[in-house]
Amino acid sequence: MLNRFSQRIESRRESARRSRIANLEGNCFVLTGATGALGAHLLIQICNLPSVEKVICLCRAKSLEEAEQRVEESLRKRKLGTEKSLADLEVSTNTKILCLASDLNKTDLGLNPKQGFLDEILNEATHIVHNAWPVNFSMGIAAFETSLNGLINLLNLCAFSYRQSPPTFTFCSSIASIAKIEPNSETNKIMERISNDPRHASHMGYGRSKWIAETLCEKASKRIKGLRCMIARIGQLACDTNAGVWNEKEAWPALLKTAQILGCLPDLRSKPLRWLPIDTAACLIVAATMTISDRNYSLKENIFKIVHVVNPHSTGWINVIEAMRQSRITFRIVPLETWVKMLANGKEQDPFVNPAIKLLSFYNSWTENTGKESEMDIRRLQDVLKERPDLMDRLRPISIVVLMKTIEAWRASGFFADQRD
Ligand SMILES: *[C@@H]1O[C@H](CO)[C@@H](O)[C@H](O)[C@H]1NC(C)=O
Ligand SMILES: *[C@@H]1O[C@H](CO)[C@@H](O)[C@H](O)[C@H]1NC(C)=O
Ligand SMILES: *[C@@H]1O[C@H](CO)[C@@H](O)[C@H](O)[C@H]1NC(C)=O
Repeated sequence: MLNRFSQRIESRRESARRSRIANLEGNCFVLTGATGALGAHLLIQICNLPSVEKVICLCRAKSLEEAEQRVEESLRKRKLGTEKSLADLEVSTNTKILCLASDLNKTDLGLNPKQGFLDEILNEATHIVHNAWPVNFSMGIAAFETSLNGLINLLNLCAFSYRQSPPTFTFCSSIASIAKIEPNSETNKIMERISNDPRHASHMGYGRSKWIAETLCEKASKRIKGLRCMIARIGQLACDTNAGVWNEKEAWPALLKTAQILGCLPDLRSKPLRWLPIDTAACLIVAATMTISDRNYSLKENIFKIVHVVNPHSTGWINVIEAMRQSRITFRIVPLETWVKMLANGKEQDPFVNPAIKLLSFYNSWTENTGKESEMDIRRLQDVLKERPDLMDRLRPISIVVLMKTIEAWRASGFFADQRD
């Protein structure tokens, strides 16, 4: 599968149109997946960069109007910014935002050729941030073919770019790509390096697809002259620190919800919760991208870097419990094994009411782990922080105050019952 895809990476094309003068002085970002949670935060962070003049969001949609609506809806859902519309965001950040209806599975990205958008991208894009990827742990590897097609098509945009140097390419990967790797024998940590063995990926299709994608990016960074490529290997994302919004479809929210359904939560004091606020993750990914920008490298140099976007500090389970209790939710703490049994045999088996049911085997796998989780090396991440010391302060455990905001947000949306006893 890897070979089949890697053959389709094009080499850099000397385009006759290369001499065309770009219309922009500032940077132009192409962003995929802005309709997802991380993508919405990425969009805000990119717009806030002073050097950015334009952001082109590629979305699955039937029309420009629908693409724009979906991105706007995505920002609203995450309670991002005070702006009511994309137009307001454009004004407040002085950035042009263009949302295009796109199909990444097609070599021309499904962009209508008559409208000239593909030309616009080839002419103007200085950075590509590829964040769109299905987060579905039931999908087998074959179901990710479309996503891998999309990756190749976006990498080839770099090969075909009309600009002097191709756009930088940032791929949002996951620590699932190397979930089973042994830590480095010297540092006893998992290094910010490419893995050469597919068995290092988690067993799910999701992790395997990210392993293949990382490898394809590495191959592209050898084949496409001047390509500067950054892989952001992202760890466990959590709520944002501002509004406390945390995607209710995920495993941790589902687990916490069982406090109200089973009256119990498991004792997870020995589990390191390296939760990274989603807004911090977006800041770090954008900052990492800027470190491979033109200014630091000669135009002919190829760059391939992996950066671990993880929180080195654990949020204590004690703090989670405390936030729940201070939010006046009553529950007991039981051993993990007991909680798993209660979940499996409890009377509430409707996954709409009790979404943790669907993740039973995932939680059960925690009972088999000896609790040993390898540490991630973060030297590259620290290099990024050296350039952006203002971000250093954001890499902290998630506070009780923020967790309480999250619980409030879950109450407001109806995900948590409004029981206060
Ligand atoms: C993706 O493109 C391939 C051809 O490149 C096609 O066979 C496949 O059906 C497409 N998948 C989707 C979901 O459109
Ligand atoms: C996840 O993938 C499975 C298997 O392909 C599919 O049946 C299911 O509908 C998907 N779930 C979501 C939420 O898309
Ligand atoms: C990149 O360039 C900036 C300014 O020119 C400099 O301060 C910074 O140290 C450079 N970073 C790296 C990683 O070389």
